[in-house]
Amino acid sequence: MGALSTYLLSLLTAAFPFMQRDGPNLPIPSFTQEEIDSGAALRRLNGIAAANALNRYGNNCTAANVKVRREWRALSKDERRQYIKAVKCIMDKPNTIVSQLEVPGAKMLYDAIACLFLVFHRYYLHAFERELGSCGWEQGVPYWEWGLDTNGPHLSPVFDGSDTSLGSDGAFIPNRTAARLDLLGFQEPTIIPPGTGGGCLMKGPFSDMVVRLGPVEVLPSQPFPSAPKEGREENPRCLQRDLNGDPVRRWNTHRNVTELILKYNTIREFQGTMEGDPRVTREAFNTHQAAHGAIGGLAMNPLFSPYDPAFWLTHGMVERLYWIWQLLDFDNRQDVWGTRTFLNIPPSPNITVEDTIDIQPLIGPVKIKDLMNPVGGTPLCYVYS
Ligand SMILES: *[C@@H]1O[C@H](CO)[C@@H](O)[C@H](O)[C@H]1NC(C)=O
Ligand SMILES: *[C@@H]1O[C@H](CO)[C@@H](O)[C@H](O)[C@H]1NC(C)=O
Ligand SMILES: *[C@@H]1O[C@H](CO)[C@@H](O)[C@H](O)[C@H]1NC(C)=O
Ligand SMILES: *[C@@H]1O[C@H](CO)[C@@H](O)[C@H](O)[C@H]1NC(C)=O
Repeated sequence: MGALSTYLLSLLTAAFPFMQRDGPNLPIPSFTQEEIDSGAALRRLNGIAAANALNRYGNNCTAANVKVRREWRALSKDERRQYIKAVKCIMDKPNTIVSQLEVPGAKMLYDAIACLFLVFHRYYLHAFERELGSCGWEQGVPYWEWGLDTNGPHLSPVFDGSDTSLGSDGAFIPNRTAARLDLLGFQEPTIIPPGTGGGCLMKGPFSDMVVRLGPVEVLPSQPFPSAPKEGREENPRCLQRDLNGDPVRRWNTHRNVTELILKYNTIREFQGTMEGDPRVTREAFNTHQAAHGAIGGLAMNPLFSPYDPAFWLTHGMVERLYWIWQLLDFDNRQDVWGTRTFLNIPPSPNITVEDTIDIQPLIGPVKIKDLMNPVGGTPLCYVYS
C-alpha cells in the first residue's frame, strides 16, 4: 500500500473508529546489545507478534485450532520422530499431480513438490504443512533457529545424524576451494569457504533418500528460468549436504536477524535486504541466501533446494522473521513488493495484493491479499513460538 492510501486509510479510521475492529499493537521495547545478541530480543519480539496476532484471528482460524510452529529443539524426541515419519510419508506418495510428460523424472509427489520452487514461500510452506497434515503431522511445520548454531550446523540437534535429526552432514570432501557466489552477476561476488561435508548424507533419516530431478546449473549473469526445461529427466542420486557455519556467523546470527526486523519499515527494504535483491542492496548474500548456504549441497541449488528436507525448516525460519516483522505493525505491513518476473527481467508489472498465486496442482489458487494475514483463516492459520 502506498503512503497516500495508508494516510487516507488512517484518516478514515480516525473518523470512523468502529472500522478499527482490531486492538492496538503492543509497543516495541528498546533492547540492549546483549539481549539482541543472545536471542532474548528475538524471543520477546516473537511474543509481541503472537500477542498482536490475537486481535487478527478470522474465519475458521481460532486460538484453539491455530497451528503452532516451533523450533526443532522445542519438539520432544517423539515429536521429532513423528515429524520425520510424516515427511517420509509424503516422500512415499506417488506423484499424481504433475504430469509425467511435463516432468518425466517426477515419479513421486515429493519430486513434484520440489520442482515448483519459484513461488511465494509463505504459501508454499502452507501447502507443505497441509501435506504433512494428511500424513499425520497436525502441528505447525517446525523451524530451525540458525542463531543457536553459530558454532556450526553439524553440531546442531537438527543435523546430528541421530534418529531425531534430519540426517547428518554430507561425507567430508577435502581440498575444496572457496565458492565465489555471484549468481546474478550484478553484485560483488561473495566468497564462502567450503563447509564440513560436501558428499552424500552419511547417517540418520534421509541418508537413503533418492533425489530424482535436477540439478540445473545456474550460471552467473543468467537469471534462472521460471520454467526450466532441463533437470526434468530422472537422474537418481543421493542427497548431498555441506553444512557450513560461515554463512550463519556472517548473516544469520541472533543479532543479524533481530536487526533486520527492527531496522526496516517497508516491505521493499525488508524483503529486498533479506533476499539480497540488487534493486535494494549491493550485498548479494543475505539472510535468505545464508539460510541455504548453511545447509549447502543441493540446498544451494536455486531450483531444487526443496528436495532437502531441511529446506522446510530453514524456510520456516525465513517465514518466522517475516511473520514477526509483519505482526509488529500489522496495519501498515499489508502490501507486497516485486514484479511478476524475477528481478523484473524481462520488465513486467508490479505485483499487487489483488494478484493471484497459483501453484496448482499442489494447492489451489489464492489472492495475495488473503495471504496477508497469517491467522486470517483464508486459508492461513499459524503462529510461531
Ligand atoms: C469454515 O467456516 C465456514 C463458515 O464460515 C464453513 O462453511 C466451512 O466449512 C469451514 N471450513 C472448515 C475447513 O472448517
Ligand atoms: C589435499 O591436499 C593436500 C595438500 O595440499 C594433499 O597432501 C592431500 O593428499 C590432498 N587430499 C586429497 C584427498 O586430495
Ligand atoms: C552479523 O552479526 C555478527 C555478530 O553476531 C556480526 O559480526 C556480523 O558483522 C553481522 N553481519 C552483518 C551482515 O551485519
Ligand atoms: C512499481 O513499483 C515501483 C516502486 O517499487 C514504482 O516506482 C513504479 O512506478 C511501479 N510501476 C508501476 C507500473 O506501477
